[in-house]
Amino acid sequence: MRFDVVSVFPGMFEPLLNFGVVGRAIAGGLLEVRLHDLREFAHDRHRQVDDMAYGGGPGMVLKPEPIFEAVDAIKPENPGPVILLEPWGEPFTQALARELAGEPGVTLVCGRYEGIDDRVREGLAAREVSIGDYVLTGGELPAMVVIDAVARLRPGVLGEPESLDRDSFTADLVGYPQYTRPAEFRGLKVPEVLLSGNHRSIEAWRRQEAARRTKARVAGRTSARSGKS
Ligand code: ADE
Repeated sequence: MRFDVVSVFPGMFEPLLNFGVVGRAIAGGLLEVRLHDLREFAHDRHRQVDDMAYGGGPGMVLKPEPIFEAVDAIKPENPGPVILLEPWGEPFTQALARELAGEPGVTLVCGRYEGIDDRVREGLAAREVSIGDYVLTGGELPAMVVIDAVARLRPGVLGEPESLDRDSFTADLVGYPQYTRPAEFRGLKVPEVLLSGNHRSIEAWRRQEAARRTKARVAGRTSARSGKS
């Protein structure tokens, strides 16, 4: 699968691309992430990609031309959807991650400043996606969140594919509590059932705990409920 990312700060993505599961997937050829510096698509001497807002008001708006040109250059090699990362977009959920993991590629356009000229959304038939109801300084961190969540759903990216079946939200339940050695630490004990070796009891306990956690912590959140698909 291929991600194309359009950003004024492509360097921000280096840590994601060089570490952990995503780094390994790229090194192993399972995933490709192409970074495009929006300034490369500006034509003036100062490589300006933003301008003042029509109608006045504070802050600068990302100009449409460099973004259209960047996406025009990407499109022949990446036929997948174009996504703008914006705080008012549709919520990024596990269901949307699964949907995107079924695409051959995704183009992510990172907003900055006060926003992106709205003709980008309209003209590129782009989808707007938000990673949560808070405002970040740009779409780069949200784009990394999307890449990470989608990449791990691709075949071969996770070492143990069965861990996907146990993922939080996959079966409308979040994960059950996990423990590792030691069996007792500062007076805190691992639940007896997990030491019993009785796999049926362990499974039953895990189901019950996952249900309890779901009810207590995420029931009512849209992202938990829309995990169904
Ligand atoms: N840009 C700024 N804040 C954002 C958010 N919460 N989600 C997506 N893009 C953003």
